[in-house]
This record gives sequence, C-alpha cells and structure tokens, in this order.
Amino acid sequence: MRLIIYTGKGGVGKTSTSAATAYRLSELGYKTLLMSTDSAHSLGDSLDMDLGTTITKVKPNLDALEIDIIHEMKTKWKDIQNYVAAFMLSQGMGEISAEEMAILPGMEMISALFYVNQFEDEGKYDVIVMDTAPTGETLRLLSFPDVTNWYLDKGFGMVKRLMHIARATVGRVMDMPLPSDEVLESVGDIKDNMDRVKVLLEDPKRTTVRLVLNPEKMVIRETMRAYTYLCLYNKNVETLVVNRVLPEEAGEGGFFKEKLEEQKENMELIHHSFDPMEIKYCEMMRTELRGLDKLKLMADMIYGDEDPYKIYSDRSPMSFVTEGGVDKIVMKMPFVDSDKVELFRLDQSTIMVHVGSQKRNIQLPDALVHAQVVGADFKDDELVIKFKRD
Ligand SMILES: Nc1ncnc2c1ncn2[C@@H]1O[C@H](COP(=O)(O)OP(=O)(O)OP(=O)(O)O)[C@@H](O)[C@H]1O
Ligand SMILES: [Mg+2]
Repeated sequence: MRLIIYTGKGGVGKTSTSAATAYRLSELGYKTLLMSTDSAHSLGDSLDMDLGTTITKVKPNLDALEIDIIHEMKTKWKDIQNYVAAFMLSQGMGEISAEEMAILPGMEMISALFYVNQFEDEGKYDVIVMDTAPTGETLRLLSFPDVTNWYLDKGFGMVKRLMHIARATVGRVMDMPLPSDEVLESVGDIKDNMDRVKVLLEDPKRTTVRLVLNPEKMVIRETMRAYTYLCLYNKNVETLVVNRVLPEEAGEGGFFKEKLEEQKENMELIHHSFDPMEIKYCEMMRTELRGLDKLKLMADMIYGDEDPYKIYSDRSPMSFVTEGGVDKIVMKMPFVDSDKVELFRLDQSTIMVHVGSQKRNIQLPDALVHAQVVGADFKDDELVIKFKRD
C-alpha cells in the first residue's frame, strides 16, 4: 500500500491538492482513500459533499474519511481517556469530558496512523492520500512514532515499576490514581501500532511526503524549515507543489505586474532551496476550487498526464547522518564541479551552498544552529557538509 502525505503552511492548498490527487488516482483505477487528519476538516467542502463520521464513498474507487476524534476518544481511547479523567480529578480539576479530552493535540494523527495500519492489514486500498493540519503540528506528529515510543518506554516503564511496588503496599502513589491493566494494555497497543506504522512511514518506496507551498517568501521559508525537519525524521520528501501561481497574462493589464516580478524572484528562491527535487505547479484559478470538476482541473494542472502514484525519487535530496560524533548533511548535487563549491553561513540557522551557478539554501535544525562547519566534500554527485557540535 502506498501512502502520500501532503503538508505545508496554513491555507496554501493542502486539502485541495490532496483531493485533486486522490481524484486522479481513482480515475486511474487505484482503490483510493482520501483521509484528513486536520481537526478543522474541509475535505467535505473541497469535494462538495457531506462526509459523515465514518468512511464515505465519493465515487467508484474513491472513499473519504475525516477522522472524528470525539468518536475515536469514546471508542478506541476509552480506557486511556477514563484514566486521564481520573488523574485530572485527583489533581483537583473538574471532570473532563470526551470533547475536552479530544483537544489534546496529536490525537487525530495517532488515530490516522492506526487506521493506516488497519487498512494495510485489510488490503482494501492501493493508496491512501493524507491531508494534514498546517506544518508545525504535522511535523511534530510525523515524529510521533519515535517520540511517543520514547515517552511510552521511559514514562510508562517507570509508572509500571512504581505500580508494582505501590500495589503491593499502599495502592496509591502520591495521591495519584493508578492506571489499570486495561490502560496499560491500551498503552501497549499504542506502542505496537507505532512500531508498525514507523516502518511504513520510513519506507521511501511506499510513503512519500509532498510539500505544498505558494510562491511567497514567508511560505517558502516555512517550507524550507519543514523540509529540513522531515529529512531529519527520515521521511522521503520527493515532490513540491507550488500552488496559486499567477499566470503571465495576469500582468497584462498592469494590475499584477509587480506581483508577477515578485513571483519570478520567489520562484528562483524555490529552485535554490529545493533543486533537484521534483517541482509541480498549479495556477491560481479564477473561480472557487470546489467539487470534482474543479479538482479534475487542478489535477490536470499539477500532474499533466502523469500518474501521481509514481515515486519521483526514492531518496530525499537531503539527509542527516551522525558518524563518530560528526554530524553530516548529505545533499544530492548532480552536475557540479567540486572545486567550485563555496559555503556561506547567512545567519546562525541558514547555510548557503554556492556551486557554480547552483545555489542551495539549507535551514539548519536547532541542534546544529551552534555547531561549527568543519568541512565539505564531494563524492558521487553528493555534497557532504560536516558539523562539529560544541
Ligand atoms: N490554485 C488555486 N486557485 C484558486 N483557489 C485556490 C487554489 N488552491 C486553493 N484554493 C482555495 O484556497 C482556499 C484554501 O485552500 P485549501 O483548503 O486547499 O488550503 P489548506 O492548505 O488545506 O488550508 P488549511 O491550512 O486551512 O487546511 C480554498 O478556498 C481553496 O478553494
Ligand atoms: Mg486543509
């Protein structure tokens, strides 16, 4: 089963792009599920139809699912929810309702990841297209399988040990209700599910992330940051979708002339930041993008006659490795001459690599902001930049 995840800054067109992609895939004969993990659901608006709380058939080969977190909390997370509620009460807080509990960030994504496991087992779909919440949230969540497992291992491991002692003695630890066996079992289930989904998420031949952006400076910067973090989390980011591109003729009347010039500059910035990644474009449409006909137009614009199932590259152009205490950024840089490489630190968190006529801006992850660059090498069309942390 193939998983295509669309993410990007708020309002750039993630939902529309996801829906358009899913539509195209279904037309090509793939059994497709369009799934949203954004609690502010808008798949229904985009498809121009009512989606219930369960899987809805949109058309032949196309189903849609907006994760209803309240429903999830009341069913799958019941034991954990009851425990958290009891815990909150013991700490002097009011009774927590399922609705309030559902505000806990990340639950949609965890639920979505569980569904992904389930659908893979059932073999019902060839491809899942995932529409997500704006970048910040989604990045945190895509790191979930790692982060959650760390917490579950350390945190719950400790609670479990404490419990054995507590049960044998007083039955309560520090005025805190003890999680029941059911809760621990639920936590165990989460951990197993996370372990499984991690394998799928980090398989570059099955899961790919596509970044949606607009040709605007602030959006580009956020997208660069997202790209860096996704590489750091070992996700295969293989395509960029530049949405809302003003067509040339918009400038003819003069009104959009300056905008078009700005756009040209920003398109260059996009290339300097993401080449040689696959880049797709979609023009700004004149009318509201709603309903299957419009989504078809959008899919035609983005993919032409290509099949969106395709994996444009099974390795992201950038990756992070740590070897012998040295952190390395490895970047694909085809067609360059090694003696023409120059590195500039634009500011603490940005490095510019200048190679002949190619420029590449890299947004460093926080851990490398204070690290020193200790060298750069070329090998097999790859540039390796080495860092030493203080
Ligand atoms: N190329 C386009 N031309 C015209 N309108 C567009 C285009 N792309 C998206 N829109 C419109 O912009 C609005 C936001 O798009 P969309 O909901 O797809 O963005 P999003 O990234 O999912 O937003 P959010 O972060 O709020 O989830 C919608 O009304 C959509 O119809
Ligand atoms: Mg959206």
